[in-house]
Amino acid sequence: MSKIKSSFFCQSCGYQSPKWLGKCPSCASWNTFVEELLQKDDKKAAFSGLSSSRIASKPTLISDIIYEKQARTSSANAELDRVLGGGIVPGSMVLIGGEPGIGKSTLMLQVAVSLPDMKILYVTGEESEQQTKMRAERIGIKSNSCYLLAETNTQNLFKQIEILNPDLVIVDSVQTLQSAFIESAAGSISQVRECTAELLKFAKESGTPVFLIGHITKDGTIAGPKILEHMVDTVLQFEGDRHLSYRILRSIKNRFGSTSELGIYEMLGNGLREVSNPSEILITQRDFALSGVSIGATIEGNRPLLIEIQSLVSIATYGTPQRSTTGYDAKRLNMLLAVLEKRGGFRLGQQDVFLNIAGGIKVEDPAIDLAVCCSIISSFEDIPIPDGVCFAGEIGLGGEIRAVNKVENRVSEAEKLGFKEIYISKYNKGIEINSTKIKVNQVANLREVFEGVFG
Ligand code: TYD
Ligand code: MG
Repeated sequence: MSKIKSSFFCQSCGYQSPKWLGKCPSCASWNTFVEELLQKDDKKAAFSGLSSSRIASKPTLISDIIYEKQARTSSANAELDRVLGGGIVPGSMVLIGGEPGIGKSTLMLQVAVSLPDMKILYVTGEESEQQTKMRAERIGIKSNSCYLLAETNTQNLFKQIEILNPDLVIVDSVQTLQSAFIESAAGSISQVRECTAELLKFAKESGTPVFLIGHITKDGTIAGPKILEHMVDTVLQFEGDRHLSYRILRSIKNRFGSTSELGIYEMLGNGLREVSNPSEILITQRDFALSGVSIGATIEGNRPLLIEIQSLVSIATYGTPQRSTTGYDAKRLNMLLAVLEKRGGFRLGQQDVFLNIAGGIKVEDPAIDLAVCCSIISSFEDIPIPDGVCFAGEIGLGGEIRAVNKVENRVSEAEKLGFKEIYISKYNKGIEINSTKIKVNQVANLREVFEGVFG
């Protein structure tokens, strides 16, 4: 007989304490401790398989370790493959987080019904089998090897897995699962942790990849526990503005690939469409030149993207000038405005400045500074930037244009998309200007750029 024990858990970060606390010592949030029952001995037994193999291992010289290149399976979804680092790794556990309604279930269901050679088990704890089928029909069922299971009890789930022996398991969502070993309610910290541990053990022992869908809380972390992120191999975040159709799949942690990769989707009436050339959709096609619009060459992960920056500068009629940004850091905008004022002599102090990155994406890359400045000055002076010109440069406090990373990728992406001119920093070395079709202007400071662009 195992002894039933209880413990207090912070529902925000998963911190465990033997007694109730008002304030969590780990994440400093108040009133988050809830008592949860656990059966210690059973839990230990569940882990014994993993720990015994660890004790047996001994140190090996790194050069003596031989490994086989793991055969990855494609998910039939090029953007997801890219974010995973080249496909699904056998025995891996992937957690997909995102706000409610962003499209996590749609994405995973789309993967489930479009992989013809794999037996897939889609466990749905949130919606009924009929609801899921309806959604799958809307997306388009391309394979006949996807099984649906409406189950929340993990012990029953494992029984079904044993019978079916699937090649891939998708769980929607981890917060609905419930293990009989733990007394507390579904979605509580200890339940989520226990269910994930059970699934993790299954994934590692059977070599079956498992995808877990997890909700995120208001402050953007995966609901329940940070501990979940430590347990799984890969954490993907699905994000985007719910009112816009573009969605971005980002890797936050990846034991099998880079975390700088990015996948872009568009939510349509019949599911998610992969966007393989994002620059085309991020740049508005228009027939006439407009002041305040400039194109910046940015990099997300290893992927160059050309994005459109729009700004509107107008005289502030109501007292304090407003500065507002969408998709761009407001503090950075203030800094650039100060540089333009001090080093460029533009009187922007009494102007409202609105800055918008088109397409609803967020950019943190400092290399778009130059494009931001040009967009502001273009709007301020009401002179459009000539067609076919783009920018890639960081701006220093002295108004100098600083070098940016991966400048060759940015230049070649601009060239591929038919741009005629690009402005980059003079200090960016290692680029063969003569070998490119696009005209590369290497500049040292803002004045040189403005002379070139606005004459
Ligand atoms: P859903 O995958 O249920 O989100 P999550 O699992 O992350 O909570 O889908 C969310 C939204 O996507 C839903 O509000 C409707 C929309 N949607 C479409 O626009 N087209 C589609 O084909 C589908 C299936 C959903
Ligand atoms: Mg869902």
